[in-house]
Amino acid sequence: MTTPGTMQLDVHLTDADAEAALRSDVRHGLTARPKELPPKWFYDARGSALFEKITELPEYYPFRTERALLTDSVADIARSSGADTVVELGSGSSTKTRLLLDAFTAAGTLRRYVPQDVSESALRGAMDELHEAYPGLALHGVVGDFTRDLHRLPGADPGGKRMIAFLGGTIGNLLPGPRQEFLGHVRDVLEPGEQLLLGTGLVTDREVMVPAYDDAAGVTAEFNRNVLVVLNRELGADFDVDAFTHVACWDEANEWIEMRLRASRDMRVRVSALDLDVGFLAGEDLVTEVSAKFRTEVIDEFVAAAGFEPTRRWIDPDHRFALSLLTAI
Ligand code: SAH
Ligand code: TRP
Repeated sequence: MTTPGTMQLDVHLTDADAEAALRSDVRHGLTARPKELPPKWFYDARGSALFEKITELPEYYPFRTERALLTDSVADIARSSGADTVVELGSGSSTKTRLLLDAFTAAGTLRRYVPQDVSESALRGAMDELHEAYPGLALHGVVGDFTRDLHRLPGADPGGKRMIAFLGGTIGNLLPGPRQEFLGHVRDVLEPGEQLLLGTGLVTDREVMVPAYDDAAGVTAEFNRNVLVVLNRELGADFDVDAFTHVACWDEANEWIEMRLRASRDMRVRVSALDLDVGFLAGEDLVTEVSAKFRTEVIDEFVAAAGFEPTRRWIDPDHRFALSLLTAI
């Protein structure tokens, strides 16, 4: 049962789990063709702080656009939802979430917020601030991987109802197979009638999309290279971080932005914790992340295939971002 004002933090991803997963991802990714790394390893304390800076960049429209959509929609969402628990996956600093928490508080139903993120530092920071701002709200943080640990999220209180928020367009960071699998898991942990609030970037002008992932001040480049800083620290690797340049390109066929790190010269990198030597040729790319943009028909298809029914949708006037309220059937 939820007790007002309490704070709890569950760690589903211990340091040992994270270390084992990192080793396996890096061994697999650096020996794959093309070389690749999964994006969750960007988000150590420095990476999470750099992402916060990205959200303030003039070029990074997804953050502001989604915030405006939330501002317009939260009162309706809260009134129609009746959820007493808001769960958020990949919650980061929970900045935009405050709009939801305020609206659900005003609607009188909110009792509990369950932020879940792979970054323990971001989660702890967010929870401390929320505890001060919402003293009566029960906070139940979960450090975990949303591609793995969803079944361990807290259930609904007896007679209660949850809404899961998945914002920021983060669903676009999953490739199509893992994305469908992820949505199926989200559906499985919900009871019929419970809801998912999904933020998705939409396909728009290339001149708008690409700079959002390649800003003039170079913050995104620094963020992208941070994954190499993480590998140097956690796995005793010896990447010359500055010898990699940030590349963001629009993949027309897949309709996603692809982020890469390009070796500026021939290199040999040693990853001592894995006893692994990896060669890079000048100009060779390491794929670090995709950020898929969607068409509304595609969103309708993949959510229906996962067992959700579209309830409402909000889209900005420039058609760059969509917020979809979905109900588990
Ligand atoms: N929801 C926030 C942050 C988006 S950035 C917003 O809309 O602004 C993506 C967030 O997802 C980061 O906080 C990152 O730490 C988290 N994340 C990335 N991969 C994850 C994973 N596999 N499991 C859980 N959290 C993850
Ligand atoms: N979920 C964010 C997005 O796809 C993550 C992100 C923003 C990101 N900028 C980035 C990831 C740069 C890697 C590099 O918009």
